[in-house]
Amino acid sequence: MKLNIGGDIVKEGWKILNIQNKPGVDFIGDISNLSQFENNSIEDIYASHVFEHVTQDKIEATLQEIYRVLKKSGRFYVSVPDLDILFHAFRSTLLDIKIKKHILGMVFGGQEDKHDFHYFGYNFEILEDFLKSTGFSKIEKVKSFGLFEDTSEFKPYGFPISLNVVAEK
Ligand SMILES: C[S@@+](CC[C@H](N)C(=O)[O-])C[C@H]1O[C@@H](n2cnc3c(N)ncnc32)[C@H](O)[C@@H]1O
Repeated sequence: MKLNIGGDIVKEGWKILNIQNKPGVDFIGDISNLSQFENNSIEDIYASHVFEHVTQDKIEATLQEIYRVLKKSGRFYVSVPDLDILFHAFRSTLLDIKIKKHILGMVFGGQEDKHDFHYFGYNFEILEDFLKSTGFSKIEKVKSFGLFEDTSEFKPYGFPISLNVVAEK
């Protein structure tokens, strides 16, 4: 089984775990509680724009759980708002204030429902450090996963706003 956490796009070979019961969701649950899954049971885990919804006190434990349920050599595909890009754009004197407000929404979460809040932020250096400490290897930043047409591909102003990283167990 491959698992898309926080997803909503149905794709052959992939199951969806989401905290909200949406069409296509196979498992209702929280990314920070994967106790319903056995050790070494999942081929690949994909998480686009959901890891930043994990509270700071649960970041390490959540990554350890992702590592636990992944099979050996299983990949963790993780996409989060790239704070290097967003802060750079926010500081630009060229951008309109409306765009800067939208950028802040991407930093703090859209806050349209109780699950739409961001509790931490990442750039490659920070995310890589967390992944390394968990035991992941072959940590690589990629432009696109080529897997889902979702927020990992979002380019609202002509440049990508996501940090897309693949790591291996
Ligand atoms: C910003 S949307 C991203 C949706 C999609 N993955 C994408 O990249 O376009 C966040 C999604 O994660 C889900 N979500 C939020 N917090 C979650 C959590 N703690 N555990 C699992 N899913 C969560 C939400 O219900 C929502 O579907």
